[in-house]
Amino acid sequence: MLHGKHFLFVPGPSNVPDRILRAMDRPMIDPRSSAFPELTTSLLSDLKQLFRTDQGQCFIFPSSGTGAWEAALSNTLSPGDRVLAPRFGMFSHLWVQLAERLGFHVDVLDEPWGDGASTERIAEALHQDKDHTIKAVLLVHNETSTGVTTSVAGVRDVLNEQDHPAMLFVDGVSSIGSLEFAMDEWGVDVAVTGIQKGLMLPPGLGLLGVSPRAMTAAASATSPRAYFRFDTMAESNAAGYFPYTPALSLLFGLRESLTMLLHEGLERVRERHARMAEGVRRAVKAWGLPLCARSEALYSDTVTAIRVPGGFDARTVIDLAFRRYNLSLGGGLGELAGEVFRIGHMGDINELMVSGAIAGSEMAMRDVGIQISAGSGVAAAMEYYRTTSPAT
Ligand SMILES: Cc1ncc(COP(=O)(O)O)c(C=O)c1O
Repeated sequence: MLHGKHFLFVPGPSNVPDRILRAMDRPMIDPRSSAFPELTTSLLSDLKQLFRTDQGQCFIFPSSGTGAWEAALSNTLSPGDRVLAPRFGMFSHLWVQLAERLGFHVDVLDEPWGDGASTERIAEALHQDKDHTIKAVLLVHNETSTGVTTSVAGVRDVLNEQDHPAMLFVDGVSSIGSLEFAMDEWGVDVAVTGIQKGLMLPPGLGLLGVSPRAMTAAASATSPRAYFRFDTMAESNAAGYFPYTPALSLLFGLRESLTMLLHEGLERVRERHARMAEGVRRAVKAWGLPLCARSEALYSDTVTAIRVPGGFDARTVIDLAFRRYNLSLGGGLGELAGEVFRIGHMGDINELMVSGAIAGSEMAMRDVGIQISAGSGVAAAMEYYRTTSPAT
């Protein structure tokens, strides 16, 4: 029997703050009452601030991020449409797979896992597409499986330079609400996220920001879609309602989450995540272990994937951390299984919580015989946090 609080450091679901838990702990209300539109309208308006869009339309669907992927594609594309997708980790892979299952033709640009999307290769693929048959580029902003952040602005620049009309669809599941995200400025046509990471909620809602251009595409696209429809959702939302019973408790939680994030200010939220992440990276450096991310420019501020030395199985480290120390770490996915463990550092965490996760990681690594000196990572993180503590 383990005592004390569980240390949840997987890269989603993240810790749900007590404020949000309390906001959700409410009796049900009538989602068709005349008082309900106030909630819908305030959520949709604040989501625009979260996505940083003036022109775009936001959607709230009952699903995890995967359902939002599906909504993005099935609403805006027609059967057999061609899309271009860099693939450099498990989530970019799963989005490709989902697009193929929906009947789209996916041109995959494979990169080594640990790299980001290659703007050169995207440029070349768009350049070759003289007839503009590529309808959309699918980009995972923050690849949660490898701890890699790709520049969305960089991909938008390539589309502009090539003067290619393909839409830009961005998966912001592990970036929106934690990292910088600027939908309008970056010319994102559909932005997708879930609520169980930066938004600090239990899983269960898929959120989308959709540009006017993508809304126009949705009006003529012919892919079958039924539950995740932009048109019926937009029509009901315009009156302040949902076309089917909304996930009320999650909406109450989302209301609280957006209040918290916008009150803190998205720039401060971003800085806080950068600081938490840097402490983790200092610890990893002190351990002398390599990151999965191949270069500094790619380092993610929401998740760090750490390679264990050859001959060791990261799965054993993760299991020992869980069973002995009440700490949940993320595992290596797909080809990285056994090779990496991941520390999620998004949402409602602080310096001492992260230091605890680093301590537990060290203990579990030493338990399996990995040669790192006890306390080295914790000391590096502590000193970094102590000397960079924001003025009080
Ligand atoms: C970047 C990214 N995209 C998509 C998903 C899939 O989202 P969900 O598990 O909410 O369906 C995840 C889940 O971790 C993710 O990290």
